[in-house]
Amino acid sequence: MKTRSPRLVIVSARAPFVRTGSGIVRAPGGLISALLPLMRRSRGTWIATGADREACDTSELPFRVRALALPSEIRSAWYAGASNGALWPLSHGFGEVCRFRAEQARAYFEVCRAAADAAAEYALPGGVVWVHDYQLALVPALLRARRPDLTIGFFWHIPWPASDSLRVLPWASELIEGVLGADLVGLHVPRYVRAFRDALDELGIAYVNDGESIVVPRGARHTRIEAWPIGVDVDGWASLGRDETVAAEAARITADLGGGRVLLSVDRMDYAKGIVERLEAFERLLEQNAEARERVTLVQIGVPSRETVPAYRELRQRIEATVGRIQGRFGGPRRKPVHLFARTFDSTELAAYYLAADAAIVTPKRDGMNLVAFEYVATRPRPNGRLLLSTTAGAADVLTEAHLVNPYDEEGLTSAIEDVALAPETASDIARMAALQARVSQLSVETWASGFLARLEQVTEERVPVRAQ
Ligand code: F6P
Repeated sequence: MKTRSPRLVIVSARAPFVRTGSGIVRAPGGLISALLPLMRRSRGTWIATGADREACDTSELPFRVRALALPSEIRSAWYAGASNGALWPLSHGFGEVCRFRAEQARAYFEVCRAAADAAAEYALPGGVVWVHDYQLALVPALLRARRPDLTIGFFWHIPWPASDSLRVLPWASELIEGVLGADLVGLHVPRYVRAFRDALDELGIAYVNDGESIVVPRGARHTRIEAWPIGVDVDGWASLGRDETVAAEAARITADLGGGRVLLSVDRMDYAKGIVERLEAFERLLEQNAEARERVTLVQIGVPSRETVPAYRELRQRIEATVGRIQGRFGGPRRKPVHLFARTFDSTELAAYYLAADAAIVTPKRDGMNLVAFEYVATRPRPNGRLLLSTTAGAADVLTEAHLVNPYDEEGLTSAIEDVALAPETASDIARMAALQARVSQLSVETWASGFLARLEQVTEERVPVRAQ
């Protein structure tokens, strides 16, 4: 789909480039790979609130990246405090982890104001601004107040919080009003749109149902809330999956792990990913099943994350302790049932593990979407392998042919891991993976990004009279 969007402005917490030991490199992740070509074409500006300024020197690129200069205590109160100590756990149903502190809320408002100021400065008259995620949810309304001429899109990349959870957020109505400053609000799946509708009911904000979308009248305009499931760079992962060097590396991994069955999990080390619970389920499998003790290995890639937030530091210790206990109970000189890698893998390394894995174990307790599930499927040159996926991940609403499991059901999780690890492959497994591959191909991240932008422009042009309920 073509979009006009000249000089598109993107606002996000992360920048498209990061500084590493080997210099400035493209930030990982499908979102960046989808948005970079759009930015190159539109010659726009990318505003990043949480980025390192030196990584944002893009003088050789046809677009600008602006890292906002924010005092470090404000940045920390916004990122580690309000965003990841309050909104993240709230949205993922971890109420007991939430901390609401006034100075963190003030920092959140300040960062959103700074981002809105910058977007107002760089957007062309009548231009398009696309704001991303829960770290910047107030930006749409703040920007609308500064620049009513703009077309504003907003995407919330995590689950929309249940209305009971939202009740405890001291600035819930500011949050919703902030989001409603956009013309089009995207959430990953219809179930999050329904949760958004509950929040509108709770706050007494009038809306109209339009199929699975919601339309909220806002004076002379309206805000449309819709499900836009994100995907991955399908061609990129498929081409890594066909690469001979990657395949040779996958064969080496399988051999190094002893030639048995390989299970793979890849997560940021986040309590919402259910890593400890998965390790415990695997431990129960080893207790109960002699074949699993001899032949099944779980590789857990755990990318260190948000370590300035106490809950994340504690989680890493629990993960390491659990892996140590399993190793102590079931390991031996030639046998290591769990391999934990606590570092970032690049996509080539990851692809080799995806190929080597007989099953991907994607069992978050809650997840906005979960793109590891998509990457595992997209990388496989043939429809083999199994995907075990939590019903509580947004991906489960899209990848319906996966083996689905409730990650809170302890015995159910153990027996689901046992099945995907040890049951002989059947024609039905192959048919399921083929169906998953077809679905993942339809949902590429490029289609998602260009489709959302095209829809955003369409939404601002549609002047359907809406009557509030
Ligand atoms: O997908 C949800 C998300 O929170 C993104 O907003 C974020 O960029 C990513 O996960 C990783 O989190 P962080 O930027 O805090 O490392």
